[in-house]
Formats: sequence, structure tokens, C-alpha cells
Amino acid sequence: MSPLVDVCPLSELPPGERRTIAWEDFEIGVFNCDGELLAMEDRCSHDDGDFSDGEFVPERCAVECPRHGSWFDLKTGKPLNLPAYVPVDTFPVSVEGDMIRVEVD
Ligand code: FES
Repeated sequence: MSPLVDVCPLSELPPGERRTIAWEDFEIGVFNCDGELLAMEDRCSHDDGDFSDGEFVPERCAVECPRHGSWFDLKTGKPLNLPAYVPVDTFPVSVEGDMIRVEVD
């Protein structure tokens, strides 16, 4: 069974907000896309850009890599434009009680 990592109470991550959590030696961005909770590794597949510094558009469920401008679909982890072309890992998100949890493996 995959470990579940606590993120924060649901009340602290309202629609349009995001936060980053650390897990072992990498970070995961957790996003509230207008009510849908999504998690994606916080490292661009192109050249290790840090998504936590990039623009997040909840209506599109997309985040921009600030290094070279590729946008990523937070539902699939797939880049939407060059130069990135390799998907980034995504993770299942659940809510237990009021706690948001990310399933990592
Ligand atoms: S590092 Fe993300 S687009 Fe280059």
C-alpha cells in the first residue's frame, strides 16, 4: 500500500490556491483547481524548473514552468507546449475528514 502524506486541512487550501510539500528527496505541488484537488511533482521534466514559482491558472488546471515557459496540465502531468515534452508524475489526492492527503510511491 502506498504511503499517504498529509498536506493540510481542506479549509486551508481553497479553490485557486496551491501549496508545496516535501516527500523524501523531492517536492510535490498540490493545487485546488476550482474544487478539484490535484498533485504533481514540483520539478519540470525539461530542465528541473520549479513550478511553485510559476503561474497557476485554476480555470485551465494548468501551471507554467517559469524557466522556459512550458505549461503543464495538472490532471495528466503532460506538457501543453514546448520546450518540455515529457510528462511529469502526478499523484492521487484524497480527503479524510478535513485532511488532504497525497498518495506517493
Ligand atoms: S525547465 Fe521547465 S520548460 Fe525548461
